[in-house]
Amino acid sequence: MITLPGLIDVHVHLRDMGQEHKEDFFSGTSAALAGGFTTVLDMPNNQLPITDYELLTKKQETAKLKIVSDVGFHFGSLGDNLDEFEKIKDKVWGLKLYLNQTTGGYIIDEDRLKKIYRKWHEVTEGKRPVLLHAEEDVMGIVTKVLQDTKHPTHICHISSIDEFTPIMKAKEKGLPITCGVCPHHLFLTVDDVEKLGSFGMMKPSLKTKKDQEFFWKHLEYIDLIESDHAPHAVEEKKSSNPPFGVPGLETTLPLLLTAVYEKRLKLQDIIDKCYENPRKIFHLPKQENTHIEISNIKYQISNSALHTKCGWSPFDGWEVRGKVMKVVLRGETVFENDKVLAQPGSGHVI
Ligand code: DOR
Ligand code: ZN
Repeated sequence: MITLPGLIDVHVHLRDMGQEHKEDFFSGTSAALAGGFTTVLDMPNNQLPITDYELLTKKQETAKLKIVSDVGFHFGSLGDNLDEFEKIKDKVWGLKLYLNQTTGGYIIDEDRLKKIYRKWHEVTEGKRPVLLHAEEDVMGIVTKVLQDTKHPTHICHISSIDEFTPIMKAKEKGLPITCGVCPHHLFLTVDDVEKLGSFGMMKPSLKTKKDQEFFWKHLEYIDLIESDHAPHAVEEKKSSNPPFGVPGLETTLPLLLTAVYEKRLKLQDIIDKCYENPRKIFHLPKQENTHIEISNIKYQISNSALHTKCGWSPFDGWEVRGKVMKVVLRGETVFENDKVLAQPGSGHVI
């Protein structure tokens, strides 16, 4: 049995409020605990995007009643809510901006981006990172904006060599940039889409074996691993116009532990990329008396064993090594024997 700190996932979509048929705060944080995460940061691309104080407060009040892990929030912007920044700056951990078309469909250009950056930088005094959904075609804009306002910037879910190399260069230049990679980009490639169909489609999309190998070779440039847990209902995924996204909270750690077992990764990499770096980059509070217990038993990931409401995973049937046996949060056993023991509302909104 191995003991690790309660892990942190800085990028999840828990869907509450408005899309509770996909996931809600209870099912999503149950999935978090089952996957070894005691803190998750929720994205703002809800049915009603979280771009003002009222909606953020309502979302946090809703979360308070339902969550079993700790949950923090990111704020959203399209550039027309700069007056809200002052009101919410101490209630969120980051500002999420979409530079490419994605679920929820909000997107911004270079001028707006600069305006948003300047205001966010002034209001947060450089403390709360901007998170960018920025695929390869927009990385040039990102570098320009970062040179204009040197605000800490996290590039989410990098998926290709073309996205990764400008980030590596920006890091070498000393720009305040970090990046995260998703387990699906580390363990699946475009070849898997043939079998998975829409269940293997997300944004950014799966890339080639060559891209994937480049990530494994340059892990030291990757600051953190984020699941981008993006559950959608099976019927939606099977429809003629399926939404993008895959769930990930319950498969991230087993996949990474399997890589440790196969000596492709070190246990310390998991601690660094799923705990230490997320905590440092987002200045997250420490959870006292909190840990997870892991066994390296062999088992199969199975849709039927998942806690996420969507009930499927692109990794269904995969044989893995590394199972979360127990989760202790602030001294209480909140997960054991595949069961969530915590009461809804016992998690903290951070
Ligand atoms: O695949 C994705 N799904 N990419 C995103 O950027 C959003 C997410 C979602 O919310 O479904
Ligand atoms: Zn996302």
